[in-house]
Amino acid sequence: MSLSDTVSQVFQNEFGAEPTFIVRAPGRVNLIGEHTDYNDGFVFPMAIDRATFIALRPRADKRVLAISPDMDDRRDFALDDLRTPAETEWIDYLVGVAWALQERGYDLCGWDGVVSGDVPIGSGLSSSAALELATARAFYEVSGFAWDAAAMALACQAAENEWLGVKCGIMDQMISAAGVEDRALLIDCRSLETATAPLPPGTVVVILDTNTRRGLVDSAYNERRAQCEAAAQHFGVKALRDMDLGTFLEREQELDNVIRKRASHVVSENTRALSARKAMEEGDADLLGQLMIASHISLRDDFEVSSPALDAIVDCANAEAACYGARMTGAGFGGCAVALARADGVETFVARVGACYREATGNQPIITVTGASRGAETIYP
Ligand code: GLA
Repeated sequence: MSLSDTVSQVFQNEFGAEPTFIVRAPGRVNLIGEHTDYNDGFVFPMAIDRATFIALRPRADKRVLAISPDMDDRRDFALDDLRTPAETEWIDYLVGVAWALQERGYDLCGWDGVVSGDVPIGSGLSSSAALELATARAFYEVSGFAWDAAAMALACQAAENEWLGVKCGIMDQMISAAGVEDRALLIDCRSLETATAPLPPGTVVVILDTNTRRGLVDSAYNERRAQCEAAAQHFGVKALRDMDLGTFLEREQELDNVIRKRASHVVSENTRALSARKAMEEGDADLLGQLMIASHISLRDDFEVSSPALDAIVDCANAEAACYGARMTGAGFGGCAVALARADGVETFVARVGACYREATGNQPIITVTGASRGAETIYP
């Protein structure tokens, strides 16, 4: 049964009626442009074919009743009495989105709904952005305001930053809101302008989940952000986005060595993300793969957010003839890598990378080929 059928079925069992709407919002994988979003730079993710689904019906009052078969839980809250969580639970993502939308002046109506998703939690594929955007879409359907992908992404990011206390950038929410089928999306994280590009012909995107998660990601992430801000401040620019590579190379020695390495990654990664657009438009899989390989090296050596497991799976992938390039994706320290592979060699690629990674680490990876899906949408009616 598809997830859409599942949420619909559970809804009927719980509420004794058909849902009025079914909405979905996807997770994401980032092809290139890592740790650039909070530097006002460029990212190049695609929405994946894993998503959060909500089957729902409007309520006459200002309450939300949400059932999660995944968590085996049911919770409700009042839109005029939102409570800050002591410890984040799944429902707090819904509460946070309600809070952020109301803060922005949206007049929200309540709903009854069933929430379920297949974006693995904590693997770096943005299950939280998927849940947030699906929630925003649910409120949109029952409340009748205008849907603007960038505005919804910003509200969901605010929910995460201010309600849940996670200092993420805009990438995950923006791609979950604005993903385009069969296309990767170049996002300018300052203007939130987007441009689409197809994958090079004959290639597929493969997600290589190392099956490792590391704690302390938040503190390392915040530390990287502060280091980037220090570099921007030193150069007297608003964000590292404003440093071009030439000027940076002339002046990088002015920086303390750790800050220099962090900034070097961000400045070079922005140019790689822009070059990736050209590579995709020209169908140049070799160039795109080379840019991904360079991105990983920069993240590993200069930004220092990779891990032994990520390095192992990336090395295994890059050793394969069918691989154009592989790199860690997302915040880092564990979770997933992403590879661009030849479509006609992908089965062998998946089997061999799996064996190589098991051999190197003793750990079982989860390797999946993914298509590019649409961003948040209503799929029923
Ligand atoms: C996490 C954050 C994003 C982005 C990436 C790194 O996924 O949520 O905003 O900063 O890390 O590129």
